[in-house]
Amino acid sequence: MQTRPGDAPTALISADRDLPVLTEEQFSDDPHATFRSYRADHPVVAHEAGSCFVLRLGDIERLSKDPRLGATGTAFPKMLGVVDGALFENFEYGMLTANGDVHRRRRAPFSRTFAARTMAELRPLIRQAAEGLIEEWHAAGRVEFVEHFASRLPALVISDILGLPRADIPTFTRHVYDATRFISLSVRPEDIPVAEEATRQLLEYAKTMLDDRRRQPRDDFLSRFLAAADEAGELSPLEMLYQIVQLIIGGTDTTRVAIVMQVSLLLQHQEQWDAVCRDAALIPAAVAESLRYEPSVASTGRMSAEDIEVDGVVIPAGRLIALSAMSGMRDERVYADPDVFDIHRTVPTRLHPVFGGGAHRCIGEALARIELEESLGALAAAIPQLRLEVAPTIRGYTGIRRVDHMHLSWRV
Ligand code: HEM
Repeated sequence: MQTRPGDAPTALISADRDLPVLTEEQFSDDPHATFRSYRADHPVVAHEAGSCFVLRLGDIERLSKDPRLGATGTAFPKMLGVVDGALFENFEYGMLTANGDVHRRRRAPFSRTFAARTMAELRPLIRQAAEGLIEEWHAAGRVEFVEHFASRLPALVISDILGLPRADIPTFTRHVYDATRFISLSVRPEDIPVAEEATRQLLEYAKTMLDDRRRQPRDDFLSRFLAAADEAGELSPLEMLYQIVQLIIGGTDTTRVAIVMQVSLLLQHQEQWDAVCRDAALIPAAVAESLRYEPSVASTGRMSAEDIEVDGVVIPAGRLIALSAMSGMRDERVYADPDVFDIHRTVPTRLHPVFGGGAHRCIGEALARIELEESLGALAAAIPQLRLEVAPTIRGYTGIRRVDHMHLSWRV
């Protein structure tokens, strides 16, 4: 069944056949417009692929911490007909989709490394890394920003934290961008073998890195992780490998998209870019507003073993639930003029939907925010005369979103 916005609002309903069912096609042009057209009358909509979207900010915040909702396990790959291989295993053995004690065991070895206080110590190094990248192309007066900055900074930082050789960055980032095609409902059938091969390559890479540390321990994160994991005996070999794969994926693609979007949005609103260049104290607000306006992770996945009531609508047990940050962050109940990009908003931006909530809240949030702030600070200080030549396109309305090219120029 497909319905139009404005169909009669639902009373308390208990079967998903009563929800509007949205098609992939309805999201192809302007996903924000599609979410907007349903949000007023429908707290929840269904998607033809089989999941449900929660659209309003208050519901998303509440449900992301609701103990009745768990992580999705392998439901997502199964929904798309993927039942084995590296793509499937990433869901089977990774922390993102695990529940309860299994999740705790998989996440615990990384909590201290990525804690906000530890990450704050890296701030000066991250700023230096950003300045170093800018230095490489500053004299040219033009740059393709995605490849030469936004892709490189997060990859450099996660490599240094984990202890991966910087020379491996071009290879593993390519695999990450192919692998993350699968972390979205927009995945096309032809993407699946590409994402499978890329995930397998990332698994092989993590294995090579861990085998290397096992033979020859070093003074780096991977060696310490391996020693601690071996001693605790709580993780199987595949679990160890997939946590490293998830850190490489999480630490690379999401922040890349966010860096691209914040620079693009500010340059499309020249007076706001100029304001940031004049006053660096505006940077945290600019980062938050960019994440609100175009979150790089469009939604987080949840599942419930029981029926869940949302504003009078019941999501039946066993359905995949997408808590839609893209919709929630433009909820007109919370943000005035939500479709206006405005770094001077007086209502503080509620970033929970963007980084998730509860036990799965993004482990790299503190790191990501520092990377976003320092990359913007370095650019605004070095090239205030920056101009947008070609704006990037951002695509996707679930999972990790995708960006293409972005060309910048400036007077030298
Ligand atoms: C702007 C950048 C980022 C955004 C928008 C983002 C967003 C998210 C979201 C929405 C989740 C799921 C939370 C949930 O299900 O409730 C998540 C989880 C995760 N993120 Fe991030 N993330 C970002 C950067 C990073 C970075 C830099 C790392 C690297 C350390 C990272 C690693 C992870 C991991 C490993 C998880 C799984 C956590 C768990 O299940 O316990 N992310 N992230």
